[in-house]
Amino acid sequence: MIIFTRVQELQDHLDIVQNQQKTIGFVPTMGALHEGHLALVEISKKDNDISVCSIFVNPTQFNDLSDLAKYPRTLEKDSRMLESVDCDILFAPEISEMYTEAELELKRQNVEDKGWTNGKTVDFGQLDRVMEGTQRPGHFNGVAQVVSKLFRIVRPNRAYFGQKDFQQLAIIRSMAKQLELPVEIIGCPIVREKDGLAMSSRNVRLTETERAVAPLISKTLFKVKEMKADHSIAELKAFAETELRSEPLMQLEYFEIVDAETLQPVNDYKDAKNVVACIALKLGNVRLIDNIIL
Ligand code: PAJ
Repeated sequence: MIIFTRVQELQDHLDIVQNQQKTIGFVPTMGALHEGHLALVEISKKDNDISVCSIFVNPTQFNDLSDLAKYPRTLEKDSRMLESVDCDILFAPEISEMYTEAELELKRQNVEDKGWTNGKTVDFGQLDRVMEGTQRPGHFNGVAQVVSKLFRIVRPNRAYFGQKDFQQLAIIRSMAKQLELPVEIIGCPIVREKDGLAMSSRNVRLTETERAVAPLISKTLFKVKEMKADHSIAELKAFAETELRSEPLMQLEYFEIVDAETLQPVNDYKDAKNVVACIALKLGNVRLIDNIIL
């Protein structure tokens, strides 16, 4: 695996790859890698000649500076894990390679920076006005900003994202379409621990007691999926909310059943082709999300 920290050096290398007509698969991450991330690299390896993984803890998508500071940084271990799945290239830039001082100043002043659209109009419509969008103002703008920058640097044929962040995947699809970026966006299944907990870089921050109750999240989702056959959406919501509120260590932020395309809440299964149940909650100090396609 070749490790690049500079944009120019990565691009010089990828120019050669592209001139050889090789396809590039890309897996953007913020590091603290786990099996969920590695699964994306493995899928990319199957589909493409060269797979690039990026590790960059993106400051513009954090609403809370203490959350940014607490984000685990484990580059050496990550790099060994990527080697273990034969990832071809790791791109791990410093902040100064990704953002200008002016962009960082906008972030410090809490101004939503739309410079990443390159003068085009990009409108996520209702996609970022629900769920994570309301809980984390500016978050998806920061995600779209960094992913569009990364796409312009790496110029991948395909890019791989986990369905764990279902709304993020929808935002990125919408962004790539509106900016007419020549990249295929591929959504990949959620990888879970044996007890069902969705893998997440944040799980390491759970105390032993919190970790022990965490599987209630996926258990509730699995049960909701099972109940779908003979229960209304209102009944599923009532069930899930009661389950999750019964655990004193958990503070439920939302449980929503939404149209998988538009992400708008649905009241009836026939209102959408596919529906997905989405949860966000705080377990102690750790914010966790999970979802299941019903
Ligand atoms: P990060 O949280 O590191 O996640 C990187 C990718 O791994 C995302 O596409 C995410 O959905 C996927 N992923 C995380 N946990 C997963 C799991 N248990 N199963 C399957 N896939 C999983 O998401 C981000 O970083 C950032 O927002 C990023 C897109 C890199 C932009 O900064």
